Amino acid sequence: MELPDWVPATMDVTKPSPARMYDYYLGGTHNFEVDRDAAERAIAAMPYTIQGARGNRDFLRRAVRLLVDSGIRQLLDLGSGIPTVGNVHDVAQRRDPTTRVVYVDIDPVAVAHSSAILRSNPLAAVVQADMRDVDAVLGCREVKDLIDFSEPVGLIMASVLHFVPDSSRPAEIVAGYREAVPAGSHLALSHIGAEEPDNRNSMLADFKAVYQNTTNPVVLRTRPQILTLFEGFDLLEPGVVLVHQWRPDADQEVPAKLPPGYGGVGVKK
Ligand SMILES: C[S@@+](CC[C@H](N)C(=O)[O-])C[C@H]1O[C@@H](n2cnc3c(N)ncnc32)[C@H](O)[C@@H]1O
Repeated sequence: MELPDWVPATMDVTKPSPARMYDYYLGGTHNFEVDRDAAERAIAAMPYTIQGARGNRDFLRRAVRLLVDSGIRQLLDLGSGIPTVGNVHDVAQRRDPTTRVVYVDIDPVAVAHSSAILRSNPLAAVVQADMRDVDAVLGCREVKDLIDFSEPVGLIMASVLHFVPDSSRPAEIVAGYREAVPAGSHLALSHIGAEEPDNRNSMLADFKAVYQNTTNPVVLRTRPQILTLFEGFDLLEPGVVLVHQWRPDADQEVPAKLPPGYGGVGVKK
């Protein structure tokens, strides 16, 4: 197979990657046949997968606007994904051009493509790292250069913690980042739920099964389990709700059947 020039030499392109599957859901082009096949199986299992991905991405953009409007000028985006239209730095720097952004992702395509588009942006950088390794992320040069931990930080964990198994203790990972930032810092987090609004959970089980054979299996969590990830943060209204229902824009498209993805924003006490 001839690979495009944006493919890092060391990358395994034989196994589907959730980062590239998500890129496919969003209409991106940084994905391979193996990713598209798996993504189509996920869509067949759960027909509103695409609306779920778009709804999550729209939640992320609204949350970033809120963070910047609340005075946050530095963002640490953990599990940032393959760049697409309306990236975190685009949204944040349009609101205030002095906003600094560090992207962190484990996926080589996400990092290679982010690095290419950030070349001329001195206030944004990308790091390839496992966000579960809090010390490694906080100690890396890009974070040290761009994030001042004496000022409030916007922590973003959008659709990433459902790739972190219970054995990696996701609540402790969030706590590790929370401890590193001062009061007034924000956490914007979204996560796939474990139950569908109308209790047709077999669709979620089939969806989860598709991800078992990818580089990052999915872990479904209930809304109460997702709420525990916000420990130490005061939730802003309307709390942790389906992403489409979190502060929707007036002109926002809301699907008739809402996908089971939850999101919320909290402020460190
Ligand atoms: C569904 S995408 C979400 C992208 C973006 N945050 C958004 O919400 O639009 C999940 C991303 O998390 C990344 N990811 C999964 N596990 C990770 C880990 N342990 N450390 C860093 N990134 C991770 C994947 O590579 C992928 O790019």
